[in-house]
Amino acid sequence: MGEIVRLQKYIAMCGVASRRAAENLISEGRVKVNGKTVNEQGIKVEIGADTVALNGKEIKPNRKNYYIMLNKPIGYVSTVHDQFERPTVVDLLKNEIKTRIFPVGRLDYDTEGLLLLTNDGDFTYKVTHPKFKVDKTYIAVLKGGISIKGLAELRKGVTLDDGFVTSPAQLEMLDADNGHTTIKITIHEGQNRQVRRMFESVGARVVELQRISVGNVELGTLPLGRWRYLTAHEINYLKNL
Ligand code: URA
Repeated sequence: MGEIVRLQKYIAMCGVASRRAAENLISEGRVKVNGKTVNEQGIKVEIGADTVALNGKEIKPNRKNYYIMLNKPIGYVSTVHDQFERPTVVDLLKNEIKTRIFPVGRLDYDTEGLLLLTNDGDFTYKVTHPKFKVDKTYIAVLKGGISIKGLAELRKGVTLDDGFVTSPAQLEMLDADNGHTTIKITIHEGQNRQVRRMFESVGARVVELQRISVGNVELGTLPLGRWRYLTAHEINYLKNL
């Protein structure tokens, strides 16, 4: 007999949605078990025995979950496909990893550094959903300087151009010379281009941005453009945040 799991867990194990998003798919009537539409939560299915279909197409759990760290270079998009045909982060792994894996959150085209990739939808939810408040640390190089007042405002929380109010950030000044200022900044939210827009809101301009850690998982000395598997310790830590 195969393992018996709740339907939403089964869907997440297929890598197509997080457990939470799977509940929505079920209530929207998009999931069938053994040919019958299911709209109630909590039913159980047996892996290998029951047939589960999403939008009419059978889905099967991944036999193996992948948890990967990539040192993303500038010039790659953090999606699986790009409408403008730009290179994607998945292109950097596709010769070695044949399973479909997805970036966990995003780094901008012009940001480099630590990007996680996985085929585990629950893991992605855990690391990216703001309610889990996972710290992400960046090294930002600014053109010119930043005022003491600007630093204080970022530490308190600022209002971005779209009205979003950021939580207090942790900032540490690392270096200032040759017309540039280097700052380490830690935030736990993931608004679009958030770090750049936070600095913009206090009149500073980011010219280089690198992510160096997610929670206490660090990029370390992984070379640019290279990837490695997360250790069991890192996976457990991120899953249990
Ligand atoms: N903040 C940004 O501005 N860009 C990123 O890529 C990540 C965080």
